[in-house]
Amino acid sequence: MASTDIGVDLGTSNVVVYKREGGIHMRVPAVVAVDRDTNRVIAVGAEAYPLLGKTPGNIQAIRPLQQGAILDYDLVKTLLTDVVTRAVGKHFFARPRAVISVPSGVNEVEKRSIINMMFDAGMRRTQMLDRPIAAALGVGMRFDEAYGSMIVDLGAGASDIAVLSMNEVSVGASIPIGGDAFDDAIIRYLRKKHNLLIGPRTAEELKITIGSAVKPLTGESMEVSGRNLLSGLPKTQRITAMEVFEALRDPVDDLVEAIQAVLERTPPQLAADIFEEGIVLTGGAAAMTGLADAVVTKLGVPCAVAEDPQACVAMGCGRALEDTPIMRALLANSKHRWNR
Ligand SMILES: Nc1ncnc2c1ncn2[C@@H]1O[C@H](COP(=O)(O)OP(=O)(O)OP(=O)(O)O)[C@@H](O)[C@H]1O
Ligand SMILES: [Mg+2]
Repeated sequence: MASTDIGVDLGTSNVVVYKREGGIHMRVPAVVAVDRDTNRVIAVGAEAYPLLGKTPGNIQAIRPLQQGAILDYDLVKTLLTDVVTRAVGKHFFARPRAVISVPSGVNEVEKRSIINMMFDAGMRRTQMLDRPIAAALGVGMRFDEAYGSMIVDLGAGASDIAVLSMNEVSVGASIPIGGDAFDDAIIRYLRKKHNLLIGPRTAEELKITIGSAVKPLTGESMEVSGRNLLSGLPKTQRITAMEVFEALRDPVDDLVEAIQAVLERTPPQLAADIFEEGIVLTGGAAAMTGLADAVVTKLGVPCAVAEDPQACVAMGCGRALEDTPIMRALLANSKHRWNR
C-alpha cells in the first residue's frame, strides 16, 4: 500500500477514510450545505453537519445518501471529491489506489459513476468491495475457508447481514433498519406518549446517551427540548431510559428477526459454525448499549461488538489494499475486479 492509497467507507451518515500511515482515520459527516438560490455549495462535512435541520430558508444542509441509496448524485460527487482530496492531497505523479465500499442500495451504474468520481478526484484505480466483506476484513475475520462466519454491519440508513465463507457472501440481506430507524422510533414514541415533537439530532442524542436494546437496570434519564404538539409552544421534558428502551423495542426486534431469517437460510454446516463462533456486529449503530446482549438473548447465538465498530468497513478496505494475497483471492472472485 503506497502512502497515497486509501480505504474509503462511503456511508449514509459518515464517510470514513483509512490511510496506512499511523492507521489514520478521517471521519467526515456525509452532509453538504447548499445555497438553494445560487446552487452554490456552502459547506461540506464537519462544517455542514451543524446546519442539518436548522438552516434558514435558502440554505439547506443535505445528506446526499439516504436509506442506503444515492439521493443527490451531484452532491455525492462534491462530498467524495472533498474527502478524497483532503485525505490524499494532489499527487500528480503518484498512482494512488483506493478500495471503496458503498451502501448496498447503490446500483451498478451508480457504482461505475462513483469509480469515475474517484478517478476525477485523483485516484488512478478504484476497487469496489462488498460492505460485509470489508467489515469482516476490518475486524480481522478469516473467511477464506469452508467455514461459516457471520457479520452484521449496522449503519445509519441500512444494515447488512451476511454469512461469509470461501471468500464470498454465502447468504446475505440488506435491511432498511439502522441508526436512523432507531432515531425515528424515538421521535414517534415521544410524539405519541408526550405530544412532544423533537428533532432527529435530539433523538440521536437520546439514543446515544441513554438508549439501550435491553431493559435498562438504572433509572437514568435526560431532559430534552421540543415542541408541544397541542399548544405549539416549546416544551422540555425529562425522558427516562426505560422510555427510550420501549421506543426502540420494535426496530430492535425487527433487526433480530432479520438476522434470524438469514440464519434460517444458511446451510446447516455453516450455521453450526456460527452458533459456535458467534456473530460480530460492526457499524456505528452497533455501539448502542445492549445490542449484542439482545441478539444473544433472543437467538441464543454468541454475539460481540467489534472494537471501534464505525471504523471497521474503512479499515477492511485498507486491509484489502495492504494484503496482496487477500486482494488476489478477492479478485479471483468474478464479482471483484479492479476497475479502471
Ligand atoms: N454510541 C452509540 N450508540 C448508538 N448509536 C450510535 C452510537 N454512535 C453512533 N451511533 C449511530 O450510528 C449511526 C452511524 O453509523 P455509521 O457511521 O456506521 O453509519 P454509515 O456507515 O454512515 O451508514 P450506512 O452504513 O447506513 O451507510 C448513526 O445512526 C449514529 O446515531
Ligand atoms: Mg456504514
